[in-house]
Amino acid sequence: MITTSIRLLKGYPWFKRLNAKITYEILSRYIRSSDWHFMNYGYTPKSCENENGICPTTLQRFPMQMYHYLATKVPIEGKVILEVGSGRGGGARYITQSLKPSSYTGMDIASNAVKLANKIHVVPNLNFIQGSAESIPFADNSVDVVINVESCHGYGSVPKFLSEAHRVLTPGGHLLLVDFRNSEENMRIFKEQLKESGLECIEEENISENVVAAIEAEDHSKNEMIRKLVPERWRNLFCQFAGTVGSPFYETLRSGSRKYYRFVLRKAA
Ligand SMILES: C[S@@+](CC[C@H](N)C(=O)[O-])C[C@H]1O[C@@H](n2cnc3c(N)ncnc32)[C@H](O)[C@@H]1O
Repeated sequence: MITTSIRLLKGYPWFKRLNAKITYEILSRYIRSSDWHFMNYGYTPKSCENENGICPTTLQRFPMQMYHYLATKVPIEGKVILEVGSGRGGGARYITQSLKPSSYTGMDIASNAVKLANKIHVVPNLNFIQGSAESIPFADNSVDVVINVESCHGYGSVPKFLSEAHRVLTPGGHLLLVDFRNSEENMRIFKEQLKESGLECIEEENISENVVAAIEAEDHSKNEMIRKLVPERWRNLFCQFAGTVGSPFYETLRSGSRKYYRFVLRKAA
């Protein structure tokens, strides 16, 4: 009954915005662990992709690889980067330290996530601000690369976000995006929205299998972390949210009804 009501309410933009904000405010406020830096499901590289080989613990390794194999699609060194939906900031820190942009701003709707990220990632050229994907607080043509990792499925209006990304990008700038949709039809709608954004799609890959492999590979450490950080009565719910093996997220992605894609888009020069 509750699940059905939530599913129906998710059809309303105002509810999607509220749901994303409340969920991530609570997560950052109550799970303050400073060694949990990522909130994406992780990525196992394809056989043609080189392992980056620098990831510390099993738990951080796969979500970090999600960032690595996305960000290395275009040159980052010396560029102005904006990440929309930066969460706990681990991806922003990784890219700033390893790929050397001139500046990296991580932006998130959840003020608690921003506070936490600014506290745990004190790194030159990196800062975190609070802001909405649907109204980006940046000037026109001011950002070389916009990064968006597993975030836009929760926005009230994806077309508004894409129009904002288009506005802030410099001519020839890139939007690098990974995200899932819960059905083939919703992924088709998302691809239509990308097409209508005015950005040119220069690469599109179905990475669902790579995400499934990452979920399986980190399942043990993820469950250990949940046991350590989450009170017992919330663990079941949290496992579903975290997409552990056996959760509906994992099962639908594995069966192919849910799709996870990576996109490289470019604004006309
Ligand atoms: C699944 S988490 C991913 C976080 C991070 N990209 C990562 O991979 O670790 C999604 C993030 O998007 C943020 N978010 C959701 N709606 C947003 C919006 N409208 N504007 C900016 N950030 C938003 C959430 O607060 C959350 O931190």
